[in-house]
Formats: sequence, C-alpha cells, structure tokens
Amino acid sequence: MQNKIELINKLPKAELHLHIEGTFEPELMFEIAKRNNIKLAHDSVESLKATYEFDNLQEFLDIYYQGVNVLQTEQDFYDLTWAYLQRAKADNVVHTEIMYDPQSHTERGIDFSIAINGIARALKDGKDQLGISSYLILSLLRHLSEQECIATLEQAVDYRDKFIAIGLDSSELGHPPEKFTKLYARATELGLLKVAHAGEEGPAEYIWCAIDVLGIDRIDHGNRCLEDDKLVEYIKEKGLTLTVCPLSNLKLQVVKDLCDHPIKKMLDMGLNATVNSDDPAYFGGYVNENFKAITQSLNLSAEDVIQLVKNSFTGSFLPEDQVLEHLQEIDHIVEV
Ligand code: ADE
Ligand code: ZN
Repeated sequence: MQNKIELINKLPKAELHLHIEGTFEPELMFEIAKRNNIKLAHDSVESLKATYEFDNLQEFLDIYYQGVNVLQTEQDFYDLTWAYLQRAKADNVVHTEIMYDPQSHTERGIDFSIAINGIARALKDGKDQLGISSYLILSLLRHLSEQECIATLEQAVDYRDKFIAIGLDSSELGHPPEKFTKLYARATELGLLKVAHAGEEGPAEYIWCAIDVLGIDRIDHGNRCLEDDKLVEYIKEKGLTLTVCPLSNLKLQVVKDLCDHPIKKMLDMGLNATVNSDDPAYFGGYVNENFKAITQSLNLSAEDVIQLVKNSFTGSFLPEDQVLEHLQEIDHIVEV
C-alpha cells in the first residue's frame, strides 16, 4: 500500500468535478463571516463540522447553501478559490475544471459579476503562480425553473471568455434532465460544452436523457449507469467520461461502504471513470484522499491508479496536444 500511496502523491492529475463552494473550509468560513459582520448559526468550527452528517443529497445541500451565504465580495470568491488551488497543488493537481453555482449568489442579491470575477482572478493567479491550468463551468441549479436558468445563462453571455461549459447540479430526484432541454439548446448555440450531474441519486433513465436530450459531453457522477447494460455500452460507444466522487458517494449514502463503490467495476468494464472530490470541505477529503480511500477499500492495483489518473486528462476539456503532453509525463514518471 505504501508504494501505491507514493504513486498517488507523485502523479500529476486533473480534477474534473469540483464545486468551488464545496471547498469552503469552516475555518475560512468563520474568517470571512467575521470580516463581513455575519453571524453564523454555529459558534465554533467544531460545532459547525458536527453538522456534516448526511443521509442523502438534500440534507447536504441544505447545509451547503447556508455556508454559501457568507460569500459577499469579489475578494471572498478570490480567497475561496485561491485556498482550493493551494490545496490542489499539494495533491499534484495540474489542471482543474471547476464548477460554481452563479444562482446561489445572484438569488441573494449578489451581482453576477462578483463571483465570476473573483473566481477568474484567482484562476489566473493559479496559472501564473502555481502552474495549475483551469477551466470554469457555470453550473445551474435544477431545483429552479428552466426559465430562471436560461435568464442566468443570458447574464453570463457578457463573461463568455471566462467559462467553457454549463453544468446542472442541486437536487436531482424530481428534476429530470428533460426539464432543461431549452437551456442546453441555448448553450449549444453559444458554443459551450455541456456537462450535467446524472445518476448520482437519479435513475439510469436520467443519464440516457442527459446524453440524448441535453447532448452532454461528460457525465457528473453517473454511478447508476451500472444498472443498465445497454447504457454502459452506449456511454462507451460515445466515449463519455464519468466524473466519479467516491468520498462524496460515501458521505451522501449513495454507497453504504467504500468496499461497495462501483469505480473498480466501471474501470473493468472499460468506462472512462475518473476520481474527484466534489465538495471536499464537506466530504472529508481532497482528490488524493479520494484516491487513497478507494485504493485501500477496493484493493486497486498500481495499474488501476495510473489508468484513473490518465482518464482525468483524456476526460478533460484540454486540447488534444496538451492531453498528450500530460499522458507522456505520467508515462515518464511511472517508468523511472
Ligand atoms: N452541488 C454541490 N455538490 C453537489 C452534488 N454532489 N450533487 C448535486 N449538486 C451538488
Ligand atoms: Zn457535484
């Protein structure tokens, strides 16, 4: 196991499923709340952390949206993003495709420009000072109406150079992908890439629909595709990557035990599965901790780890030549 831990630590990797609001560590939350004169519902980091026990996605979301309320200024979004980038650097993340939820901020009166400018400024510094490349994904909240999501996308048009894709997150059950057909058609018109959370709690049918109706380029989570053999074949045929989040799945009770986690099965079936941290401040670990936990629980081989890391680049939205460079770098590290 020691050798595999070293391998995980030393391999450069991409992170493809990460909500920046989900990296809001309680310590930073208290610091920013203080400077914004906001009183949190809990009076210590420990008592806040004690609430991080969830029976399902919705219980998590209720707490996650409370945390988000603390973010008010462009500097707050910068600090949040910068803290993640530093943490990612420690895990040897060299490329990240992060999501943020614009509506979690505009819905409470924060101007659209505030979050996107703060995040984008930190991402630029991440490239210049830490050597981490990044793309930004605007994730729309599926518990809101399609009309509201379209209005947010229209607001984002003025910032088109700052993001490359749209996503769909928040409460999955009861909000199937077809609710957002027009939204995704508009994203296509704007030349954006498209991802969506599908098959985290929702059935395989939601994944079919996200692929066929929304035309997604990558699947966030996708765990429940394994319930449908035809769907697995279809995902492979289309070459779609799954951004899998093991510790998130454990914390949100998508799996009861990491020993039952489907990622090894996905790999063995030839699916392009990747490892990601989703909302690491809430789920107990950044990307390397996710790698280590599944390597231990599923007894992954060194080859499995290397495959997962390579998948993170082949599943990224980086141009082909940069993907190849990263793959060559991995081969080089593995050979020595
Ligand atoms: N928003 C933040 N994390 C999420 C997740 N895992 N699923 C759906 N929406 C989210
Ligand atoms: Zn997610």
